[in-house]
Amino acid sequence: MIQHDVVIVGGGLAGLRAAVGLAGQVDVAVVSKVHPVRSHSGAAQGGINAALGNAPDGRDDSPQRHAFDTIKGSDYLADQAAVVRMCEMAPEVIRQFDRWGAPFSRFPDGAIAQRPFGGGGFPRTCYAADRTGLVLLQTLYEQCVKRAVRVYDERLVTRIVVGDGRYHGLVVYNLKSGRFEGIASRFCVFATGGYGRIYRNSTNALINTGSGIGAALLAGIPLKDMEFVQFHPTTQFGTNILITEGARGEGGYLVNRLGERFMEKYAPETMELAPRDIVARSIQTEINEGRGFEGGYVHLDLRHLGKERIVRRLPGIRDICLDFGGIDPVSEPIPVQPGQHYSMGGIATDGVGRTEVPNFYAAGECACVSVHGANRLGGNSLLDTVVFGQLAAEAIAGQWPGDGFRPDEAAVIESVRQQEAEVEQLLSRSQGTPPYQVRDGLQRLMVEKVGIFRREEELREAVEAIAQFKRLYESVQLTEPPRPFSYEVIAVLELKSLIYLSEVTARGALARQESRGSHYRTDFPQRNDDAWLRHTVARLEGDEVVLSYSPVDTSHYEPKARTY
Ligand code: FUM
Repeated sequence: MIQHDVVIVGGGLAGLRAAVGLAGQVDVAVVSKVHPVRSHSGAAQGGINAALGNAPDGRDDSPQRHAFDTIKGSDYLADQAAVVRMCEMAPEVIRQFDRWGAPFSRFPDGAIAQRPFGGGGFPRTCYAADRTGLVLLQTLYEQCVKRAVRVYDERLVTRIVVGDGRYHGLVVYNLKSGRFEGIASRFCVFATGGYGRIYRNSTNALINTGSGIGAALLAGIPLKDMEFVQFHPTTQFGTNILITEGARGEGGYLVNRLGERFMEKYAPETMELAPRDIVARSIQTEINEGRGFEGGYVHLDLRHLGKERIVRRLPGIRDICLDFGGIDPVSEPIPVQPGQHYSMGGIATDGVGRTEVPNFYAAGECACVSVHGANRLGGNSLLDTVVFGQLAAEAIAGQWPGDGFRPDEAAVIESVRQQEAEVEQLLSRSQGTPPYQVRDGLQRLMVEKVGIFRREEELREAVEAIAQFKRLYESVQLTEPPRPFSYEVIAVLELKSLIYLSEVTARGALARQESRGSHYRTDFPQRNDDAWLRHTVARLEGDEVVLSYSPVDTSHYEPKARTY
């Protein structure tokens, strides 16, 4: 049995920031599915928002303006006090990274460079060329190494042990040994990332299956606002690799097959720098109405920026285009299409990451505080990870050593035994369904029926089809016993979460009869504050997903029509 005071699950930015905040005060360890520097935070390209006012045209920026843009961008579903706190903390977050040595891009006067991003009224996105997530991740990992934080990598959490209203420990699958292990701790912070891989066309890493969020749901911990799924406007046609919003922040144009800069029809003031939900829907409308290119894409044109600027500010994008698309954006436009990118919903938490289970916290993309509401602004995700990783650490440190609670290790051992028995049972089947068949079917279904544009009939079909996938899950078979790096075992262990998270997403989308942010119902195209200015809360009762609703904090800004 592995034992620590605090266990953090997830080696991305939220998890590492929580670890740095706790190291030296308590015995803290990080458990991660991959080595921390391979976490999906490293794929974030364009930047991190903070009202520094460094750009000549950004001098009047302030944390209050940042908060307002975020709340408006969220279509007023964000909890406003949490947003204000995040935006007020942002400048110090950047200064802290600067002191730790993060190599931000600079203006000629030496100040940290800032570029415009969608839905931000000012150029407030700090960046390191187009590899911002990677440099922040490496910087935080260095801080963890410096503080000798213990890391257990290659571990997939399969169960959370909760009893008498408290968290006690975890069951993890050790990918290296092919064995299950028990972990007991007094506190836990989940920082396990999003669930983008319930969709087939996603910018997310293959590890982003939502296994952490799913484990929380299965342990009885409620989820919030799961129907709000962000589709990034510009992913590489065919591969869905992210083509950063920074490309539009640098001045890139979106152009349809007729050579039109079509965003002037949809967002005449902000054009390509409207928020993501609006730009993604605009591109998809062009494609659906026959003004896209054959196969279903539009062009992102950077040629007018010139080679020097592309090479300096967007080197990763150029590499992606050359390596995966065989084109050079210096001389050719980039074929792009929308793709799933981010999960606004997640494990329901309060403003410091505490869940309904008081010694179990969540931070980063797996959590829903909620600071992004119905639509996240680009550049606010990296900020969210480090702010709420830090706040969760402070909240736990602030109550340490607590009330002397000791985790029930026997319950953790019993849960490991049950997990092993479940796998034995899958192995004992002489025939059955391969897990990949269920996973692939589910991912296609979510794209087709629970995508950018949604309507009742298709959502009902999705809910029914997911119920069939649930039944099929009962016949899933493992053909080989667990052994080091068995991908079949991992696929089976992650499948239940994928199915339940798809169900929660589809059921929430079916129930919400309005359009707000990323959730667009063609049969209910208006936002309806009277009926729907509320969060969706999903929990599992037995085998059933049950939805309820909770109020939104609108204490700072009154909801208004959202125009750009
Ligand atoms: O487009 C991007 O670089 C993505 C940024 C984000 O999701 O915040």
